[in-house]
Amino acid sequence: MRATFFHRVSEALAMPQLAFLCLILLAASHGAVQAIRPAVTTPSPTPTGILPAASQEYLDAHNEARAEVGVGPLRWSQALANQSSRLVRYQRDKMACEFANLSNSKYGGNQMIATGQVMSPRAIVEDWVEEKRFYNHTDNSCAPNKQCGAYTQVVWKTSMELGCAQATCVKSKTSLTICFYNPPGNFVGESPY
Ligand SMILES: *[C@@H]1O[C@H](CO)[C@@H](O)[C@H](O)[C@H]1NC(C)=O
Ligand SMILES: *[C@@H]1O[C@H](CO)[C@@H](O)[C@H](O)[C@H]1NC(C)=O
Ligand SMILES: *[C@@H]1O[C@H](CO)[C@@H](O)[C@H](O)[C@H]1NC(C)=O
Repeated sequence: MRATFFHRVSEALAMPQLAFLCLILLAASHGAVQAIRPAVTTPSPTPTGILPAASQEYLDAHNEARAEVGVGPLRWSQALANQSSRLVRYQRDKMACEFANLSNSKYGGNQMIATGQVMSPRAIVEDWVEEKRFYNHTDNSCAPNKQCGAYTQVVWKTSMELGCAQATCVKSKTSLTICFYNPPGNFVGESPY
């Protein structure tokens, strides 16, 4: 069984001077999903050359959080980035820019909807990593009524590849961001590292 988690940041609900503190974690209705553990796929090699700035920023923010707990870095995967790009555009164009249903995804996924503000790749990843303070690695638990799954996917040791994309939606400066992780993490009962 695998769980995916979702974040929504909305300026409309924030104290204006403290928008970052207003973090609404979507509750369990979007939370745990069941998944068959997929066969391990062979990661494709990272293309050589310089990554686009946004890709590098997603990657760096992930790898800093991983390094903090002694987990090795992710590699950028253009194939995963393309898939997330297709999905965010589909959600934008056909699904009113709502969260994607990743129940049947063979990848791990983190999602973010930001309303009324532009969020940089780093700010998005840091928002997921904020869950770290609720996560207890000693017994692999999350504080009551909190979610830790976005964070645990970020630092999941056996996830090797990352690809992310963002779509800007028409309605009220909303953006939807999805990151995919391969192989996926968040297997229930397993520790991320
Ligand atoms: C990703 O998409 C770009 C643009 O459509 C394409 O040129 C490239 O070959 C794709 N890369 C992979 C690895 O799928
Ligand atoms: C997501 O898709 C799965 C499988 O297709 C379905 O069972 C589930 O109800 C969907 N979840 C939501 C929130 O729509
Ligand atoms: C983490 O879990 C361990 C083992 O259950 C417990 O002893 C410890 O107090 C917990 N730490 C925090 C900060 O809650």
